[in-house]
Amino acid sequence: MDPCGQDESDLKETRDDVICAIRKALRIGFALIEEPFDRLFGAKLNPLAQLGALGFFFFWIVAVSGIYLFIFFDTGIERAYQSVEYLTQEQWFHGGVMRSFHRYASDLMVVMIAVHLLREFAYDHYRGVRWYSWFTGLPIILLLYASGITGYWLVWDKLAQYVAIVSSELLDWLPFFGEPIARNFISTGTLTSRFFSLMVFMHVAVPLFLLFIMWVHILRISRPKVNPPRTLALLSLIALLAVSIWKPAISQGPAVLAKVPAQVGLDWFYLPLYPLASIWSNGAVWALLAAFSLMIGLMPWLPPLRRAKPAEIDLAHCNGCARCAEDCPYEAIRMVGRTDGTPFPTQAQVNPSLCVSCGICVGACPSSTPFRRTQDLRTGIDLPEFSLRQLRERVVEVASELTGTGRVLVLACEHGAAAGRLEGTVVMPCVAMAPPSLIDFALSRDLADGVAIAGCVESACYNRLGIKWTEQRFAGKRDPYLRARVPRERIATIWASALAVKKAETEIAAFAARLTTLSPKRLRSPLPGSVSSRSAKAREPAELREEP
Ligand code: HEM
Ligand code: SF4
Ligand code: SF4
Repeated sequence: MDPCGQDESDLKETRDDVICAIRKALRIGFALIEEPFDRLFGAKLNPLAQLGALGFFFFWIVAVSGIYLFIFFDTGIERAYQSVEYLTQEQWFHGGVMRSFHRYASDLMVVMIAVHLLREFAYDHYRGVRWYSWFTGLPIILLLYASGITGYWLVWDKLAQYVAIVSSELLDWLPFFGEPIARNFISTGTLTSRFFSLMVFMHVAVPLFLLFIMWVHILRISRPKVNPPRTLALLSLIALLAVSIWKPAISQGPAVLAKVPAQVGLDWFYLPLYPLASIWSNGAVWALLAAFSLMIGLMPWLPPLRRAKPAEIDLAHCNGCARCAEDCPYEAIRMVGRTDGTPFPTQAQVNPSLCVSCGICVGACPSSTPFRRTQDLRTGIDLPEFSLRQLRERVVEVASELTGTGRVLVLACEHGAAAGRLEGTVVMPCVAMAPPSLIDFALSRDLADGVAIAGCVESACYNRLGIKWTEQRFAGKRDPYLRARVPRERIATIWASALAVKKAETEIAAFAARLTTLSPKRLRSPLPGSVSSRSAKAREPAELREEP
């Protein structure tokens, strides 16, 4: 798999694709910081893996601090500036800090959005079935900016006056308003309290709508991370407090409508386009905004992702246990009433328009038992284009080519470092497609001396939950478990991005070397209950026995 997210044949067509080249360059950039961050913070605390959650966290800080400010804020034009000044100067220790929290957490939301957008783009999480979260990100950007800009307006200082004048001139360019809005800002007499109250209302209503769209944004994601880990949340709060005390948010002198402000300090997070408006025509600024929105809106289809066929249910092997529905990262499986007359109350149902064909459900299904005879190797849920049966065949085929001592079979995700580049590798859409019993199968049948599971870098699992579920299954915390009889020293997990092939090679070589030091007795003699022992084979139910 190439970092462009296409398989080799598609890659030929897109090799010269500019978008692909940008994605690749960005992905190199993220890979360079992702792994050191993982080492420094641990994959769970890595802020890059928590951007969405941090976005929600900063939203709540903005909301709580906003409520506090609103209690003391005077919504009249004459008193607005003084009320903010009172908060900043007289109550600096709580009101002032709250104001700074409100300002800096809003700024951090912009930073978070920018990095989150670039990262989802770099890791190709936005095309195919996954267009939805990307597309709903566009109104989030627009609403966040609308909230921020109306916020600057309310302070009613020189910056607010500048924002009010430039914004209203921009809005007047649009053919929607009969009366020019800019006329409100000619003199104090022309600015009505009603207009100011409208701004106050907008600054409260737009963020509420933003919150609604943030909820819509994650609707198609199962178990979205909306709360950062406690340590990260605490560190963010401490950092915000430190900046608020070091450089508190302040006003820039009261607005005087008779005088156009000559110079104002800008917030470059929210107002980067405002200086442009004095150089360009208003039409050109709107054209830039429209082009940006169009580009973001169309990106999931530039170029469209080749879609593999969605997962299919085989009711004859589905007992309605719901494990697949619990493990699917994309909310693509629902449990519905049974339709085949069997006594199970429910059955799984795949929504093809939500399925990305990651195969995680195949790894979760209790019927995915590689020990079955070939003709019986059918499971409750399977991928039509790469079935469990084909996966087992590849394992047997690739393993048969392994020689010497320390034979390592690599089960690799197509998005990670080991995808198709290393010897002895079986590539699949996600490492969590391999049921733990497949590892048991490979080791107990002596197909390999050890099995390495090689996925994406830990903080950036392409299929969101593949690494998490794999680790939980191995640790016995999630069904289906890796059975206790499987020798853990013969299993290695390697989490490395597609660009870290060297790292994966080194780790696999080290694992192979470790395997050669293990006692040959342990290598060959099966552990109690292992199906590779003749006696165990005799105890095995016939249907679970592999063909000779
Ligand atoms: C306030 C701003 C935003 C918040 C709070 C937010 C939050 C989130 C969260 C919580 C997730 C789920 C992460 C996970 O658990 O895997 C997510 C995923 C995603 N977001 Fe955002 N987001 C925001 C803005 C944006 C924007 C502006 C874009 C792009 C235009 C965007 C694109 C995406 C994409 C593509 C995904 C991944 C979906 C997938 O994995 O299938 N988000 N976001
Ligand atoms: S293949 Fe992946 S996306 Fe599709 S139903 Fe299974 S787990 Fe969900
Ligand atoms: S995991 Fe398998 S058996 Fe359980 S509901 Fe899904 S398809 Fe059916």
